[in-house]
Amino acid sequence: MSYVLRCINCGRTFSPDEVEYTCPYCGDRKGTLEVVYDFENIKASREEFSPEADMFQFRKLLPLRKGFYKPPLKVGGTPLYEFPSVAEKLGISRFLVKYDGTNPTASYKDRASAMAIAKAVEKGYEVIYAASTGNAASSLAGLTAPTHLKSVIFVPASAPKPKLLQILVYGAILVPIDASYDVAFDLSMEIGREMGWYSRNSAINPYLLEGKKTGAMEIAVQTDWELPDYVFVGVGDGTVVSSLFKGFYDMWKVGLVDRVPKIVGVQAEGADFVKRVFDKGEPFEPEDGEAKSVADSIAVGKPRDVIKACKYVKRSGGFFISVTDEEILDAQLELASDTGVFAEPAGAAPYAGLKKAIREGRVERGASVAIVVTGSGLKDPRSIESHFDITPLSPEKESIMEYLRKEL
Ligand SMILES: Cc1ncc(COP(=O)(O)O)c(C=O)c1O
Ligand SMILES: [Zn+2]
Repeated sequence: MSYVLRCINCGRTFSPDEVEYTCPYCGDRKGTLEVVYDFENIKASREEFSPEADMFQFRKLLPLRKGFYKPPLKVGGTPLYEFPSVAEKLGISRFLVKYDGTNPTASYKDRASAMAIAKAVEKGYEVIYAASTGNAASSLAGLTAPTHLKSVIFVPASAPKPKLLQILVYGAILVPIDASYDVAFDLSMEIGREMGWYSRNSAINPYLLEGKKTGAMEIAVQTDWELPDYVFVGVGDGTVVSSLFKGFYDMWKVGLVDRVPKIVGVQAEGADFVKRVFDKGEPFEPEDGEAKSVADSIAVGKPRDVIKACKYVKRSGGFFISVTDEEILDAQLELASDTGVFAEPAGAAPYAGLKKAIREGRVERGASVAIVVTGSGLKDPRSIESHFDITPLSPEKESIMEYLRKEL
């Protein structure tokens, strides 16, 4: 596989042996790299791909060598559901849900972790580290569990308990830091560099976005190449939203699809630091702040992939939109009861964003739309607890029947 790494900021290109993570001229924040393939020499046809196969079916468009190490757990090949009744309710022609809660550790992040493991083995590392709001962490922990690699995970100690326990049950080394994700990220970088470990920090490791882009590629295959007009997804650091553009774009470069859908990034109002940069326009300049949202996975105050996210979303013709915590929680409940897809708050954010975009006329009636549900609701059930009352009933048939008469 031949490819180069190109800086998103200055456009300089590097061979993969020359740099590991980011552009030495532009630094970690602005100089994230993109993987650029030798598209002329990649021959691919639609018939090669199947709706159920794992993410490595796209290896022709992944930065992997022949005979690469494929982690044992199956990542990707997650379902794409269609719900005509929801489409009708929203006034759009198609409503599709790409549900990545069915990945081995129940989030989209498994796509990046699988790629990180393949690259770590290729490069001869023994330890991989990550800083994470929770999902990337539990994902790395789970996917390294059946391998010889060790994982060290830096998280804000405030991450949801189920995610912390998930990390521990897989046997990873957990570093729960009494600070925000943004602080945990900087500390992980300092310690990881000093220790010589491989970084699974998505924004700075250019290969991880390549793993994530397979979600977009699966949407192309699973719609039988009838791409939706819009794809909505939640945004924290900005890597997942960038990866959706890149997946469709790389497929377009080799002639598999004829266009790229408009990519829409959805942020929580209390953590909308990518949207703000996008709305100010080019040249995009990072603007950080303190993040606060019920959607813990996207509560990011210092988005590491902000430049790429803004550039890619702009190229797709899409936009960013922010929603309140209340809108996210309502969307979580509505999506679960209408479709049976129980998303964590960050995974429900795109549904909230879609409803708002339709209300504001930013998505036209009759459009076809896919939302990407990036994590399972079981990851963080705290958010919905207050909505429900679970009072035990006495074990008598009559009182149970009376209760049922009220509920039915
Ligand atoms: C469930 C979920 N959705 C969305 C995102 C956003 O991804 P990114 O930080 O790459 O923007 C994350 C990241 O942690 C996540 O865990
Ligand atoms: Zn540069």
